[in-house]
Amino acid sequence: MSDFGIVVMAAGKGTRLKSARPKVLHAVGGKALLLHVIDAARTQVSAADILVVVGHQAAQIQAAAAPTGVRFVLQPQQLGTGHALQCVRDWYAETGTTPPTHLIVLSGDVPLIRPETITALRTTHLKQNAAMTILTAIPPDPTGYGRVLRKQDGSEDVSGIVEQKSLSEDELATPERLREINSGIYAFRTSALFDRLGKLANTNSAGEFYLTDIAAMLVHDEERVVAIAADSVDEVLGANTIAEMMHLDASFRERSAARLMAAGVTIFRPDTCVIDASVQVSADTVIEPFVQLLGATTIGANCRIRSFSVIENCTIGEGVLIRNGCILTDSTVGDGAQLGPYAHIRPESQIGARAHVGNFVETKKTTLGEGSKANHLAYLGDATIGAGSNIGAGVITCNYDGVHKHRTTIGDGVFVGSDSTLIAPVTLESGSYVAAGSSITEDVPADALALGRARQVTKAGWASDKRAAARLAEGNGR
Ligand code: UD1
Ligand code: CA
Repeated sequence: MSDFGIVVMAAGKGTRLKSARPKVLHAVGGKALLLHVIDAARTQVSAADILVVVGHQAAQIQAAAAPTGVRFVLQPQQLGTGHALQCVRDWYAETGTTPPTHLIVLSGDVPLIRPETITALRTTHLKQNAAMTILTAIPPDPTGYGRVLRKQDGSEDVSGIVEQKSLSEDELATPERLREINSGIYAFRTSALFDRLGKLANTNSAGEFYLTDIAAMLVHDEERVVAIAADSVDEVLGANTIAEMMHLDASFRERSAARLMAAGVTIFRPDTCVIDASVQVSADTVIEPFVQLLGATTIGANCRIRSFSVIENCTIGEGVLIRNGCILTDSTVGDGAQLGPYAHIRPESQIGARAHVGNFVETKKTTLGEGSKANHLAYLGDATIGAGSNIGAGVITCNYDGVHKHRTTIGDGVFVGSDSTLIAPVTLESGSYVAAGSSITEDVPADALALGRARQVTKAGWASDKRAAARLAEGNGR
């Protein structure tokens, strides 16, 4: 039997969101709400001691959270937060699992909660020998939240929680008296909670079984109910509407930008950048306004990322210049490479050290070797290109025959003239040349020149003859 277990409530419908996607799978800071909460919970207990209550769109939520190793409790109908905990109580009974002495309850839609705060909740709960400890905050606008009533001002003892929907006319008329909100995060002595869940009633305006009613029941039974205020209001804000989510998202982005700036990264106008919490950037890199750095992206030192670039799941070396408007996904870029403006680096591309990829060049599943250059208007798909090769303007690897994809292999020091089409599968060996405007259908041996186009015909005087003939015809017509 462990001391503490954690319950994450995530079964609710999220009606206020007006979205087909389950609320707790909406992302803020580039990660689903529920996964933020599970990450925080994981800092406290092992994954097997975390129970996630699922109900509405349970299968989708379980699929998203299962890789974390947490366990799931089904709440088949969502009859309120009190009912969610009834399902947890029944799960322990039905599975024959001994419940932990204390249960921490987190909300799947309160994602900014910090591990330190859960630790503080736990410590207070034990120190005060409480049956229930409520995490609270005093936000500028408490509308929509349940309010925590303290026995006296300044006392840690609580007399109850009143839901927004149950506030009386009097209470609504004097909002300054009821500014302390219930975060929806609690610690309970498990037996004190489980003994009372059966007595909850749903005789309120929402017709739900409110977990919050347990507070007054405990007080009535002379059990201790205490409140502890979170250090920052932001970390207990709920995400019930898209607007609230975007507010939380902005907080995450601010945290990410602040973290990188503290590590020596320059970010101009950080408020315009979208940076996920998982992104790593080394010192002396400069990020210009309106850049997005997403997913598992790592950027080395001394890079410059110019405006309007979107980089997702990429590993970028040191001293890389990414000019305006580049899109990079699931790829790697070596030290000192230069990209863009407007380069499109699609998945599984490997851009070598000091390579150049210029404007309107698209790569996909392509390796561009060290120091190779494709500076203008090219499509390089399913290609392996060696070092020091030069890919001219408008070169296209024709990798698709309508049924299958084929590879193009280009050696070191190859020169591919502008506007050539390389019809895969095809190999250009090291040191070879391809004349501009060629269609290459056969392999080119090392150090050879390949021409794959019609020879030019030049007709002397043709143009002046044509003009003279035209003038003559005009005169006859008059
Ligand atoms: C709840 C609290 C409120 C508090 C607020 C903080 C209650 C009655 N009220 O209100 O005092 O200020 O959180 O954010 O608890 N859920 C289930 N099963 C259900 C209903 C809800 O698992 O049957 C889950 C939801 O998915 C959500 C969490 O419980 O993650 C809270 O439910 P929600 O409906 O958002 O409660 P609030 O109205 O925000
Ligand atoms: Ca909520």
